[in-house]
Amino acid sequence: MKVVTFLSVKGGVGKTTLTVNTANELASRVGGEEKVLVIDLDAQAGATVYVLGHKQQENLEKRGSTAYELLRSALRAGEEALDPERFVVEAGGEWSSRLYLLPGDSRIMAIEREAIAEAAAGGFGWIVLLRQLLPKLSESGFSYVFIDPPAAFGALARMALAAADYFVVPIVPDDLGRVSFRMFVSDFFREAVLQIKQSGRSEPPLCGGVVFNKIKSKTQEVIANSIAEEVSTRKLYGRYAIPVYKSRLHDYIIYVKALEEHKPLSRMRSRTDQDEQAKEEFESYYNDFYDYVVRDKVKSLG
Ligand SMILES: Nc1ncnc2c1ncn2[C@@H]1O[C@H](COP(=O)(O)OP(=O)(O)O)[C@@H](O)[C@H]1O
Ligand SMILES: [Mg+2]
Repeated sequence: MKVVTFLSVKGGVGKTTLTVNTANELASRVGGEEKVLVIDLDAQAGATVYVLGHKQQENLEKRGSTAYELLRSALRAGEEALDPERFVVEAGGEWSSRLYLLPGDSRIMAIEREAIAEAAAGGFGWIVLLRQLLPKLSESGFSYVFIDPPAAFGALARMALAAADYFVVPIVPDDLGRVSFRMFVSDFFREAVLQIKQSGRSEPPLCGGVVFNKIKSKTQEVIANSIAEEVSTRKLYGRYAIPVYKSRLHDYIIYVKALEEHKPLSRMRSRTDQDEQAKEEFESYYNDFYDYVVRDKVKSLG
C-alpha cells in the first residue's frame, strides 16, 4: 500500500482538487482487486463535497460514516477493535468504481484539540493515530490511500504526514506562495519530521514533488521559475530530493465547473480549446506524479 498527501500552509492552492482527481485517475487505471481511498481530514470536507455533494456529506455526517468518527473510535477503543471499512463509502457517480472515500466531518477539529492537549502533556502518541489504521485499510484491499488534510500545519496535517509515504506540495506561484513555501520548509518540515522520527518511524516521508498550480500570468511563470531554481539548487530537505514537476497547471474555468458538477476533470466534456488544454495539462501532471510517486522515481534521485 502507498500513502500520499498533498500539503501546503496556504489554503486554496488546489490540494483537494488534485487529491480527488489524482486519486480518481489512479483508480481508473489500477487493475485486479485494487482499490483507491481518499481520506478527508478537513472540517470543510472539501473532498467529500467535491465527490458527493453537500447533501450527501451532511447525511454521512449524521450517519457517522466519517473520518472523524473513525479517529474518535480509534482514540476511545484502540485500533485493534476497529473496522475502518465500516466508515468508508463508494464514490459512485462519474467516479471510478474503484474509488472510495472516508468522508469529511465538520467536527474533526475536536481530534486536533485532543492531540494538542496530549502534546502539551508531553505525549506524541496522537501523531500515529492515522498511521496505525493503515494495516487494516491495506487488508481491506486499498492499495493507494490519499489523505486530504486542512491547510496550515496543525495536528491533522502532521498525522497525515506521519502516515504518508509521499507528500506532494502544490504551489500557486505568487509572492505569498513563495513565502508560504519557505515557511513550509523552514518550520514545518524540520519540526514535523523530527516528531515523526520520535514516533518510531526510521525514514521520514519522501517529497513526491512540487507542482505549480493556478498560474494566471507571465509574472507567475517567472516566480515559478525562481521557486523551482531555489528548490533545485538548495538542499531544502536534507539528503532527500524535492522534484519539481515539469508540467505546470494553469488557471482554468473547467476546474470550477468540475467541482460544481461533482465530476472528475477527465469526465468533463471539453467545450473550448481552453478546456481541452486544461485536460491535457492535467494528464502531463498525472504522468509526472505517476513516475515520481507511483513508480518511486524519487528514490533514484540524489
Ligand atoms: N488549476 C486550476 N484552475 C482553476 N481553478 C482551480 C485550479 N485548481 C484549483 N482550482 C479551484 O480553486 C479552488 C480551491 O481549490 P482547492 O482544491 O479546494 O484548494 P485547497 O484544497 O488547497 O484549499 C477551488 O474552487 C478549485 O476548483
Ligand atoms: Mg482543501
